[in-house]
Amino acid sequence: MNTKKVLVSRIFPEVGTKMLKDAGFLITAWDKDRPMTQTELIEKAKDHDALYCSLTDTIDKTFLNECSHLDIISQFAVGFDNIDISEATRLGIPIGNTPDALNDATADIAFGLMIATARKMFYSHKTILKGNWGSFNPVGNLGMELKYKTLGIFGLGRIGMELAKRCKGAYDMKIIYHNRKPNPKGEQELDAKFMDFKSLLSQSDILSVHCSLNSQTIEIFNKSTFSQMKPTSIFINTARGLIHHETDLIEALKNGVIWGAGLDVTNPEPMLPDNPLLQMENVTVVPHIGSATIEARNEMARLAALNIIEFYNGKGVLNIVNPETLKR
Ligand code: GLV
Repeated sequence: MNTKKVLVSRIFPEVGTKMLKDAGFLITAWDKDRPMTQTELIEKAKDHDALYCSLTDTIDKTFLNECSHLDIISQFAVGFDNIDISEATRLGIPIGNTPDALNDATADIAFGLMIATARKMFYSHKTILKGNWGSFNPVGNLGMELKYKTLGIFGLGRIGMELAKRCKGAYDMKIIYHNRKPNPKGEQELDAKFMDFKSLLSQSDILSVHCSLNSQTIEIFNKSTFSQMKPTSIFINTARGLIHHETDLIEALKNGVIWGAGLDVTNPEPMLPDNPLLQMENVTVVPHIGSATIEARNEMARLAALNIIEFYNGKGVLNIVNPETLKR
């Protein structure tokens, strides 16, 4: 009989908790519509063997050292920048995540942000709400077309590939990318061209961010890099808000250094309602909903549960961020 106790830190899709319960785990599920504070999280985790958590939980050195007894931490997300991975690894705690489940959902949001920004859809919607529709204006509300444009992808991995497929299929876009290492699948299937970061900046009409947040990518889109982009370009970020410098982005948009931006992620989150980005004509912001489809969230819940179940069954961890912890 399995007597392991799993702390579930948020209200997640039921499929994951059901799997854990069916496998005999004892579950404590946080049932409030907000993340736990770190003090609450530490206090509860102390009494559990495993943690099922997400990106709103701060799993830093303090948490990990207070809860170094945890057998496994399974994160309901593909990104894991809320977790101090090197400290978890040092303490021998395996960290699971849920890649792939959200590739289509997130690529759809990036694709949608690109179109909505190019055609000023959110801004136009707001003019109606304010009673300012006016009459059909032959020279008003002009956006830009996307056919044959160049899509630049910063971080051509699984999500970037899905966006590139959509852009190629719908608009016959040329695909260029910058990665730590080349992506042969992208080159073969989408004729994607690898380039250095500077060339990516200067050649992209749409530049979409799909990398992870880490010490190399933090605020890599800033005054200096925006200034190397085309004044007609659109910047899209569905990865993490800290990858762009928000004040620099606002300035770049205000001064016409770049043309527009579509954001699913901001810094901080939540974005405050008086943020100037929300009033700009060529800006589209949505509240971190990249993976928010029924299909993606159910699959993420399933994978996060499976990581814990397989770990305790001695089968390893299906999706592991720090595999070295399993080899010890
Ligand atoms: C969402 O942002 C994720 O990392 O899964």
